[in-house]
Amino acid sequence: MGLLIKGGEIVTAESRFSGDIFIENETISAVGPGLTAPPGTEVIDGTGKLIFPGFIDPHVHIHLPFMATFAKENHAAASQAALIGGTTTFIEMVCPSRKDDALEGYHVWKNKAEGHSASDYAFHMAVTRYDAKTEAQLTEIVRDGTTSFKIFLSYKNFFGVDDEEMFHTLKLAAKLGVITTAHCENAELVGQLQKILLTAGKIGPEWHEPSRPEAVEAEGTTRFATFVEQTGAAGYVVHLSCAPALRAAVEAKLRGVRLHVESVLPHFLLDKSYAERAGVEGMKHIMSPPLRDRRNLAVLWSALKTGLIDTVGTDHCPFDTQQKLLGSKAFTEIPNGIPGIEDRVNLMYTYGVKRGGLDIHRFVDALSTRAAKLFGLYPRKGAVRVGSDADLVIYDTGYRGAISAATQHGINDYNGFEGFEIEGRPSVVTVRGKVQVRDGAFVGQPGRGQFLRRIPNHGPQ
Ligand code: URP
Ligand code: ZN
Ligand code: ZN
Repeated sequence: MGLLIKGGEIVTAESRFSGDIFIENETISAVGPGLTAPPGTEVIDGTGKLIFPGFIDPHVHIHLPFMATFAKENHAAASQAALIGGTTTFIEMVCPSRKDDALEGYHVWKNKAEGHSASDYAFHMAVTRYDAKTEAQLTEIVRDGTTSFKIFLSYKNFFGVDDEEMFHTLKLAAKLGVITTAHCENAELVGQLQKILLTAGKIGPEWHEPSRPEAVEAEGTTRFATFVEQTGAAGYVVHLSCAPALRAAVEAKLRGVRLHVESVLPHFLLDKSYAERAGVEGMKHIMSPPLRDRRNLAVLWSALKTGLIDTVGTDHCPFDTQQKLLGSKAFTEIPNGIPGIEDRVNLMYTYGVKRGGLDIHRFVDALSTRAAKLFGLYPRKGAVRVGSDADLVIYDTGYRGAISAATQHGINDYNGFEGFEIEGRPSVVTVRGKVQVRDGAFVGQPGRGQFLRRIPNHGPQ
């Protein structure tokens, strides 16, 4: 049976027009004014609503063994929370630790998602050790359709790689035509600064930011960009948080380096004063790179508006209050991460488009289309056009509400954005033509999500 969405205003990264959308067999088969459909077609009235292509979150952790614990999430809950918030595709980081086997790790993550995710999904494969065996396994993983790598310049001895391993990873990525995403902080400096602070008795969450200052992130960004340049690879800086790191990335872009930039939801809306709150309230806002001095927020917003920041992800990585308390005696033991997969679209729409002068097409581009293009999903995802998957968000701009842990759908006992107002939310969300969400509730089929096989799209220029 087909599905017809009538009378909405379709908004994509490039255009805005009134029209209908007809869906058959999971894909869009017609877009235009005055469409009619055969008897038996389900019709959704989109009058007064905006219709966006399904949003894509390019930076998500669901299964994550990290900092002596596991991220408090599973694929069923996270994917349904994502859909309720308008995210129809997420890209999860496969993060085996340095001592684990890469291919085994890849299958662990795939098995966790398969049959449980309600939204479609793909993976970035983290390279946490580089040797001949891992190189062969990475080639096999790319052949399986996972065409992006992830490296950590921080988290020494756990996820982190050294410069030699970064070099070989980027060389392999360039040869295979895949893009490498990178967490850019100088691991050595972080370790030394942590030691100095702890020795001086500075153990609270307020010392997390001073242990990883802006210059440490700028150094990581510069070094990653230089390695990308020298290896002829394509690179993507994840969760860029501050002006000096942005400057480093822009300098590389200006030199013609194939470098792309992601910033994540918390860094647009929260500053370091949240992590300076007393006790566990501060711990709830510990992530890396850390929340920054407020002056950085305006810089990130303007870089997003002009496209210097390419994409907006979440770095969704929830730990609950009990887990955060692992760091009561030392800020270095606080599990790093904050949830956000459910709230990204509504918060960026509210504080960007409605209140912040963010162009609505740039909003769609940064939260959907650009990620689809960079990660080999376009035009299957990130577009409203004939032949694309019918992943659509029928958006109610008249909705008014506020973010609260009491009403969220992900697994956690707090929300880092508690009390933030929202002006708008999805009223209907479809995944490949099937209605999965209506007005804040999951009404669809759990486990319907598919693994998205991609082909390399960053070959030599
Ligand atoms: O604090 C963070 N960002 N936690 C998740 C792991 C990472 O670095 O992305
Ligand atoms: Zn990271
Ligand atoms: Zn992350």
